[in-house]
Amino acid sequence: MQAIVSDVHSNMEAFQAVLNDIRQRGVSDVICLGDLIGYGPDPRACLDLAGGFNLCLLGNHEEAVLFEAQAQGFNPRATVAVKWTARQFNMLGDDRAANAKRWDFMGNMPRYYSGNGILLVHGSPSDPTREYVYTTDVRNPNKMERIFGQIEHLCFVGHTHVPGVWTDDMTFRSPDDLDYVYRISPRKTIINVGSVGQPRDNDPRACYALFDGAAVRFIKVAYDFETTIRKIYAIQDLDRSLGDRLREGR
Ligand SMILES: [Fe+2]
Repeated sequence: MQAIVSDVHSNMEAFQAVLNDIRQRGVSDVICLGDLIGYGPDPRACLDLAGGFNLCLLGNHEEAVLFEAQAQGFNPRATVAVKWTARQFNMLGDDRAANAKRWDFMGNMPRYYSGNGILLVHGSPSDPTREYVYTTDVRNPNKMERIFGQIEHLCFVGHTHVPGVWTDDMTFRSPDDLDYVYRISPRKTIINVGSVGQPRDNDPRACYALFDGAAVRFIKVAYDFETTIRKIYAIQDLDRSLGDRLREGR
């Protein structure tokens, strides 16, 4: 069984709660679909916690830190957070050796992985780090047909921070609609595993997915977001709203 996480966003409290949960479930592989960093207060610790994962894909936030030119498309408070995050990997300070490793780790993250009819990306098959697949895109058949055209069978994504399942009959189902389990069918299917560190589905709990080849199970894990919020408030370059939103999961 594999655990698939995404969008940790430098939230160590959420990440540790999820990793503790994963440890209790007989998981063989852990995969991250990108955005380990960005927005939150603990980028170094979150990268380090993912060091032993089987696969970590590049997210738009790693891309922005690595190649500043790619930071276009970020709103002003996200841009300030990207710059603050990049400074945490300063190569001129005491933490040089550890930070060199972190730059290597990010620099070697692939943009996608495919095998056995399964595609893994951060955003979408068309633009792996940047395009969003929204829940409302089932009403945009041109977009969905283009995206399904690039999928053999299954595609796991993150990026919107909203978990759920799209099938090629143009339906979207949330984890609630599915009782938290989606059984794999022959249909082409896109699965968003949700966000560990900044959920936006009006549920403040950290979210990730378990996949055993036959079914996807969405898991929600409560964590101490007040600690994360206090850390965000204490860092001037992280807008207070980045903390406030964790309380409501929006
Ligand atoms: Fe993200």
